[in-house]
Parts: sequence; structure tokens; C-alpha cells
Amino acid sequence: MTQRNESAPVLDVRDLTVHHGQLRALHGVSLSLPAGGVHAIIGANGAGKSTLMRTIAGLHRPTAGSVLLDGADVTALRPERRVAAGIALVPEARRLFASLTLEENLLVGQTSARPGPWTLDEVYALFGWMRERRSQRAAQLSGGEQQAVAIGRALVANPRVLLLDELSLGLAPVVVRQIYDLLPRLVDSGLSVLLVEQDVSQALRVASYAHCLLEGRITLAGHPAELTTQQIEAAYFGVGVSA
Ligand SMILES: Nc1ncnc2c1ncn2[C@@H]1O[C@H](COP(=O)(O)OP(=O)(O)O)[C@@H](O)[C@H]1O
Ligand SMILES: [Mg+2]
Repeated sequence: MTQRNESAPVLDVRDLTVHHGQLRALHGVSLSLPAGGVHAIIGANGAGKSTLMRTIAGLHRPTAGSVLLDGADVTALRPERRVAAGIALVPEARRLFASLTLEENLLVGQTSARPGPWTLDEVYALFGWMRERRSQRAAQLSGGEQQAVAIGRALVANPRVLLLDELSLGLAPVVVRQIYDLLPRLVDSGLSVLLVEQDVSQALRVASYAHCLLEGRITLAGHPAELTTQQIEAAYFGVGVSA
């Protein structure tokens, strides 16, 4: 493993350009994630948020640019090697194995796991209801329960960087709140969170730093407390850009 420098970013995305066929979904996106915080990416539907998350996780190959983890270039690593290096993705729409049990889904997350604090027991302690339902098929769980299992599956890989793509999609507000309230405990366990959210107020409530993505470009970055509603609206919708 590479040497760890305390002041260096844990995740460094440099000038990333990604195409889907002819469509350029990301145009030279750069961002730097210091160790230990919650960073948010906000942006409208189709802005390129999932493309960015999936490219960081190794599921899309960029046309240009690089992804560095603890200073080491991981751009060429396949997804499972990135998990082993310390990047875990909770994908949009959760994507559990519906016919596997809750516990089998968690075990999938251990396949390329790093050593670390998150074991099955720790996940069961975090989500009190899980242990006694571990033999149920994922398909039998509610949306919020499935989201919790998807988070548990990522945690047992013991990531340095946890990527959360639209946690709140399709979930009741009270469930969303419960899941977001967990984030400080995850950060306390030593990982850094990069989350994508369409629900801007939710994202800004939990994030220590936010980036706005519009049509594949970063249009705004800053501490949530320092961003005005006007700035955010302009960056999010592109209003004022072409007017
Ligand atoms: N696998 C794909 N093949 C072709 N186009 C895609 C694919 N994934 C995303 N896109 C397109 O790339 C753009 C960005 O999509 P996405 O990253 O999913 O945005 P977001 O997550 O912000 O909604 C959109 O125009 C979308 O239609
Ligand atoms: Mg998306």
C-alpha cells in the first residue's frame, strides 16, 4: 500500500471526462475529498452524478482524467480491485440480489473486503432489526430496509471512501432521515463519504462540503453554510448562465 499523508486528500478526481457512446456525460470534473468528512454532489436528473460515482468505483472507464485514492492512481483498476483498495459504492436503486437472503447480500460485500472495524456483527449492531431477519430474501424487505442492507454490504468491505448514490430515492422521508442520521457514526468509524442527492436540502444538511454538477460540469463548490440559495439555484438549474 502507498504511504498515507495526513494532509493529502483521500480521494482525488482529476479532470475526469466520461463518454457514454457519443454522449459526453462528464467534462473535466475535478474534486478533492479530505479524509473524514461528508461531501455532497448535488445536481438535477441527468447531470452526470451517477456517472461520476460509477467512474470512481471503476464501473465506467473515463476517456480522460484520473482517480487517485490516498495518492495512488487507481484509474486502471477493475471494480473489485477498487473495493480491495478502499472504494465502496452503494449504487442508485440499491441493486441487491433479490433472491439471496439479507445475510448473503452482506457476505457479497465481504468478497474483496479490506480488514477493518466493519464486520457482519457490527452491521447487525448498527441496524438492530437486521440480525433476526438475516435469512429473509432481499425481495421481501421494504425499500428502506433494502437501502440499509445496501449500506451494510458496502460497510463490510471496510472502505476508505463510501460512495452513496441517491440514498433517498423512493423512500419515505422518515426513513431517509434515519439513514442520514447514521452518517456521523460512519464518519467516526474512520471513513469518508461522498454522496449524491437530488434532494438538495437533505444533502446540504449533512455535508461539510458540496459540489454542484450541471450537464457534466462542476458549476459550484463550497461549504453549505457559505452558499446562497441564489448561487445554488443558478448552479443547479443553469439559470442566469445563458440568460
Ligand atoms: N449507460 C449509459 N448509456 C448511455 N447513456 C447514459 C448511460 N448512463 C447515463 N447516461 C446518460 O448520461 C447522462 C448522465 O446520466 P447520469 O450520470 O445517470 O446522471 P444523474 O445520475 O445525475 O441523473 C444522461 O444524459 C444519461 O442519459
Ligand atoms: Mg443518478
